[in-house]
Amino acid sequence: MQDPHLIAAEAVNAMAAIDDPALLEEVKARYLGKSGSLTELLKQLGKLDAAERPAAGARINEAKQQVEAALQGRRDAIARRELERRLAAEALDVTLPGRGQGSAGLHPVTRTLARITELFHSIGFDVADGPEIESDHYNFTALNIPANHPARAMHDTFYVGPSDVLRTHTSPMQVRYLETHPCPAKVVVPGRVYRCDSDMTHTPMFHQVEGLWVDEDVSFAGLKGVLVDFMRAFFEQDALRARFRPSFFPFTEPSAEMDIGCVACGGAGCRVCSHTGWLEVLGCGMVHPNVLSPLGIDTERFVGFAFGLGVERLAMLRYGVNDLRLFFENDLRFLAQFREGAR
Ligand code: FA5
Ligand code: MG
Repeated sequence: MQDPHLIAAEAVNAMAAIDDPALLEEVKARYLGKSGSLTELLKQLGKLDAAERPAAGARINEAKQQVEAALQGRRDAIARRELERRLAAEALDVTLPGRGQGSAGLHPVTRTLARITELFHSIGFDVADGPEIESDHYNFTALNIPANHPARAMHDTFYVGPSDVLRTHTSPMQVRYLETHPCPAKVVVPGRVYRCDSDMTHTPMFHQVEGLWVDEDVSFAGLKGVLVDFMRAFFEQDALRARFRPSFFPFTEPSAEMDIGCVACGGAGCRVCSHTGWLEVLGCGMVHPNVLSPLGIDTERFVGFAFGLGVERLAMLRYGVNDLRLFFENDLRFLAQFREGAR
């Protein structure tokens, strides 16, 4: 019979160099498997003399234990090496600085709204807001636009009920504010407005800022002064020119539209101003007595002026954007340009 310890030594030797778990199991089978060499020795025990069997059996078992111990040692070593390999490969240095730190920014329309309201607030205007779903009383009737008045058709109104609309302008807040605040009153109202309208310079939702100043000595000259000063501050152009053209709104009399000298070409004429040198920026006028009287305001004593400006229009001019719709497409490549430093 072969010496089991020699076989065991051979097995231990064979396993020592193995790194691959599958190969290791093959070697195990060669010695300890069903027809492995140590298993074969056990089968031969029966052929020995009864007196020799116990000692021979004990030696074979010792040899098997040596092989099993070596096998377990290799398995552990392979598992440890695999763990070390993974720890090295997946190592994470938590002290490294983060990558791709992005910073968010305010939407250009939000920036413009804030800039407009801050400038008016700095000269004493209160800031208020009001409902976007408005009754046709506030949106039209209280503003001297009775039912069947042609001005209602001009507004391309979205109706949300038989007598409720998405407000087509911020002017209804003139009435709401005067209902709840005694004269003198001085307020700006930023907000969303809606019209069934869509092209390069019109979107179905846009923003206006309404301005209202009612007091005993308010005048059209005062209106012009406030608006010209505002535009010069907004565009940071001290010599910005302005002109007022006669216009019509049912809720103001007289009414005007304000043009400013083109901020892109300085008035020489370019694509932005359609080669006229002028840009229309807002509608304004002296508040019509038909708006003030129903509110119980003494129109012999109090006079008011009001204006309504398009926020996107000012944002386009300030940032040099040529298509209004860009503001509402949420293209991050467009919006990211306004992230840092822009005002
Ligand atoms: C009005 O809405 C009046 N409520 C303004 C007013 C207020 C006059 C107080 C007198 C006293 P108008 O419809 O012209 O007026 O709109 C005012 C501004 O909103 C326009 O000059 C324009 O800049 C902007 N605007 C109008 N329609 C759109 C639109 N679809 N998309 C973007 N901006 C628009
Ligand atoms: Mg207009």
